[in-house]
Amino acid sequence: MIITIDGPAGSGKSTAARKLAARLGIPYLDTGAMYRVITLAALEAGVDLESEDMLTRIANEANYELDLGPTHIRVSLGARDVTEAIRTMRVNNHTRFIAASPGVRRALVEKQRQLGRQLGSLVTEGRDQGSVAFPNADIKFYLDATVERRAERRLHDFLADGEEVTFEEVLANVDVRDRTDSSRIVGPLTVPAGAVHIDTTPMTIAEVIETLLAHLRQAGLWQPNGAASK
Ligand code: DC
Repeated sequence: MIITIDGPAGSGKSTAARKLAARLGIPYLDTGAMYRVITLAALEAGVDLESEDMLTRIANEANYELDLGPTHIRVSLGARDVTEAIRTMRVNNHTRFIAASPGVRRALVEKQRQLGRQLGSLVTEGRDQGSVAFPNADIKFYLDATVERRAERRLHDFLADGEEVTFEEVLANVDVRDRTDSSRIVGPLTVPAGAVHIDTTPMTIAEVIETLLAHLRQAGLWQPNGAASK
């Protein structure tokens, strides 16, 4: 069973994907982590972030690994664990260059499909999972919330990680990423055809999970007393 969850930064999709996967006992894939590790590799290599050739080469050749489970994702680059290093504001501020590269997107979508085939069942979240990577997913969700609510959630994550940022900085970052995510030529953020659209602005994460499960149940993909049915 492939479940896709797309949406903008701070819509709650990462937490929702992780918790839903844990509830179903299947792996979850945070595809943003893939764009982030390529961003980190490109920054560390000091390459021109507008060079399509260099970025494509890094996406194809960087030695990164994703360790996927129902309750965790760990990311390594070479011998280093970079799970935390890919979440800094520095990486945040540069992902849009990497996400706009057609060569990077081709390489990462191919890797996502490979993981889907290999694992069989997956909750995968990002911007293009239902539209490009898995158009035939069993069920597709699109999560959204107001820009202020999303910036509040991101600020909360940063402060918990010990980053010193203000609400205004985070709001500006979320706003720029919304615009670049939605306007890029390849793999733009869009509501996939057939997706269930959920506004999470007033919801707690527990309510989001209950809503997702209700849709899975309605689609015959899940039973309250059992695991995933596929
Ligand atoms: O969801 P996130 O903030 O971790 O995403 C990091 C960056 O990667 C962000 O700029 C959007 C981009 N991204 C993308 O273009 N396509 C995806 N499937 C996932 C993330």
